[in-house]
Amino acid sequence: MAQPAYSPGLEGVIAGETAISTITDEGLFYRGYFIQDLAEKCTFEEVAHLLICGELPSRTQLEEFRARLNEHRCLGPATLALLRHIPPATPPMDMLRTAVSFLGHFDPEAQDLTTEANQRKAVRLLASVPTVIGVWFQMQQGREPLAPRPELSHAGNLLYLITGEPPSATAQRVMDLSLILYAEHEFNASTFAARVTVSTMADLHCGIVSAIGALKGPWHGGANEQAMEMMLEIGDPERAEAWVMDALARKERIMGFGHRVVRRGDLRARLLTEAGRQLAEQAGEYRWLRMAETMERVMEREKGLKPNVDFPCGWVYYMLGLPVAAYTPIFVAARIAGWSAHISEQLAHNRIIRPRSLYTGPARRPVPPLEERGTGQVR
Ligand SMILES: CC(C)(COP(=O)(O)OP(=O)(O)OC[C@H]1O[C@@H](n2cnc3c(N)ncnc32)[C@H](O)[C@@H]1OP(=O)(O)O)[C@@H](O)C(=O)NCCC(=O)NCCS
Repeated sequence: MAQPAYSPGLEGVIAGETAISTITDEGLFYRGYFIQDLAEKCTFEEVAHLLICGELPSRTQLEEFRARLNEHRCLGPATLALLRHIPPATPPMDMLRTAVSFLGHFDPEAQDLTTEANQRKAVRLLASVPTVIGVWFQMQQGREPLAPRPELSHAGNLLYLITGEPPSATAQRVMDLSLILYAEHEFNASTFAARVTVSTMADLHCGIVSAIGALKGPWHGGANEQAMEMMLEIGDPERAEAWVMDALARKERIMGFGHRVVRRGDLRARLLTEAGRQLAEQAGEYRWLRMAETMERVMEREKGLKPNVDFPCGWVYYMLGLPVAAYTPIFVAARIAGWSAHISEQLAHNRIIRPRSLYTGPARRPVPPLEERGTGQVR
């Protein structure tokens, strides 16, 4: 049998077709719209509608979309009880994975795989996830959960529910920008995991749970938390260069740098850094911006690597007063839009995703009788 071509990590492999987004030398496009244009002209809700429903909304459609989000923001008593039963030391991404799975049990259309049902489920999940995250972080501080506020946007609710403080206009704008930038990124690991899962004709909640698991890792979405942990450890911009040099000498990866596809600089990182610069100027607090600039300079010089979106996300969310452990869950609150779009697309043109592997085990051999197998160690 002829061996098909093999590419470790599937690098460079075209693993499917999509009309949802593309990454070109210019940057990222969602359904034909340039990410920078969307960031300048739209809110996250408009972008979520674009991804989930296929087009930017009209004014009426946007109002209706916001109304549906508000309708589904509150959690039922069972989900609140579940969150109270999860051990407080649980990593928030694990809690969120469990909560999303649990929400599936209460969704009346959970088993319906049609595009229309998937769009409705996507909106319900999109609405609930900020509340799940908010309830969790309020409980972590020994406080009672807050009720979502219908007058606030998706970004505003995330900030309010997690921090307990009414968010400033600037904070809401920066959070909204980060959600737009995080909403979708073609065939990344978590999206691919979602597509693989539903390609077996499993439902949307199964796909999203798979995706959350894949996003958790520090080489994917977990990088935004790790990037900030690293900056907190460095502590002082003056120490940044020596710290990075030491880490590189130990052959460590610097979180928030490098990307499998975006090699020449991530436009999303530039846009978020610019927003972070404005936050720094407003607050008169330049520590993280300066540290980031030094780290970027050293990484470019030493490795030719540029920051990806997770690098500025870390210190920008920190400047917004968010707990570090909330950063990857917030990524989920945005990426549900992209994942859901991919799930619908996969199911609309489905063929099970079932690649081959290159076998590296032993050649054919006889099965020895039990008594002749010795006490050899089990691998
Ligand atoms: C994103 C990432 C997983 C891509 O992996 P990849 O495409 O397999 O990267 P490559 O293997 O092509 O990397 C090439 C070289 O650069 C190194 N490298 C890549 N990212 C690095 C980083 N962040 N810090 C230090 N070195 C890095 C690799 O170790 C490798 O070195 P080697 O050839 O000496 O082994 C990787 O860049 C990474 O781990 N980055 C940090 C985590 C992160 O920010 N993830 C979020 C992505 S949006």
